[in-house]
Amino acid sequence: MLDNLEITRVAESRIGSVDFENLGFGNLFSDHMFSMRYEGGAWREPRILPYGPISIDPANATLQYAQSVFEGLKAFRGVDGKVRVFRPDMNLARMRTSCERICIPPPDEAMFMGAIEHLVALDQAFIPSKRGQALYIRPIVFSDEGHLEVRPSTRYRFLVMTGPVRAYFDASMAAVALKVEERQTRAAPGGVGFAKTGGNYAASLRPGESARAEGYAQVLWLDGVEHRYVEEVGAMNIFFRIDDTVVTPALQGTILPGVTRDSVLTLLRDRGIEVEERRIALDEIVEASRRGRLREAFGAGTAAIIAPVGRIACRGEELVVANGESGTLTRELYEAITGIQRGEVEDRHGWNRLIDIG
Ligand code: COI
Repeated sequence: MLDNLEITRVAESRIGSVDFENLGFGNLFSDHMFSMRYEGGAWREPRILPYGPISIDPANATLQYAQSVFEGLKAFRGVDGKVRVFRPDMNLARMRTSCERICIPPPDEAMFMGAIEHLVALDQAFIPSKRGQALYIRPIVFSDEGHLEVRPSTRYRFLVMTGPVRAYFDASMAAVALKVEERQTRAAPGGVGFAKTGGNYAASLRPGESARAEGYAQVLWLDGVEHRYVEEVGAMNIFFRIDDTVVTPALQGTILPGVTRDSVLTLLRDRGIEVEERRIALDEIVEASRRGRLREAFGAGTAAIIAPVGRIACRGEELVVANGESGTLTRELYEAITGIQRGEVEDRHGWNRLIDIG
C-alpha cells in the first residue's frame, strides 16, 4: 500500500536544537510527519512531509463533534545500537477498536506499520538513547470534513508525528501523588472509556486541574455508576500490591486496555507472582493501607512507563504507600520493561519490532 509513498524532506533539520539532557514530554517534534487521506471509501496518498501546521475547514467534524482518536507508542535506541518499537501491533489493534467505536474507517496494518517504519528510520537522529527516554510516536485519525450534521464524516486524515521524550512524570522515578475523584467520572458503561478518543481526555481536564491545584499529579478515577470501584488514572492504568498479590481493575469497557498494563501482567505471571484482574473497591485499598497490607502502588502506561505512586488522597485523608517512595517490585518492573525495550533483556515474548534504519 505504501508503494506510492512520496517523501518531501525538510530543507534544514532541527536536530541541532534538541537538548537530549533536558527532554520534556510532547513539546518537541522530529523533522517529519506521515500523512494519508481517506476519501471515496479508501485510504490514499501516503506522504512524508516536513512536520508543521495543516489547514482544515472550520466546520471540521473533529473541531465540532470530536470525531478523533489517537495512539501513543515508542521507539528506543538499544544498547546494541538497534532501534526497536515496543508492541506496535497492540497499538494498531487498539486504534482500530477506537476508530470503530466512533465510526472512523480504521487504518490497516500496512499503513500503520509502514508509517512508523519510514518515519522512525528517516528521523532516527531524534531517537534518544538513555534509559527512560524514547522517541514517542503519536498516530492520530480524525475527520477531515467540514459539516455540521451529527453523522460520520466521509473524509478523514491519518497523521503520525514523533518526538524525543522523557518519561511522562519524571525520569528519576520519584513517586507520584494521586487524588481520588469521588464525584466526577471519566467513563460510563456503554460509553467510550475503552477507546482512545480525544474527547475522553478533554473530559478529564477539569478534575485533573483541581487535583493539580491541590498538589496531586493526576486523578485516580472511580467507576461511573457507584463511585466505589477504582478504574484508572487517565494517563496510565493502576496496580496495587496487597501483601504478595498484585491487583488491577479488570477491563470491563470503561478502562483503557493499556499495552504496558498487558506487559506488566505478563511479566508478573512469568515470575510466578499472583495477579488478579478484578473489581477493586476503594474501601479495600483504604482498609489494606490501614492494616499495613498495601505494600506498593504504581501506574503503567506508554508515556508514564512504570510510575510509583507514593500518596493517594481520598475522603479527606491521605494514604502513604511504600513510605512515599518506589516499591521494590515497582522498580523491578521498570527495569524489566525498559530492559526489554533497550535490548538489554531477552525479549521472550517477541514484543519488540526491529526497525531497519539502513
Ligand atoms: C500514552 O501513554 O501514550 C498516553 O496516551 C498518555 C498520554 C495521554 C500522555
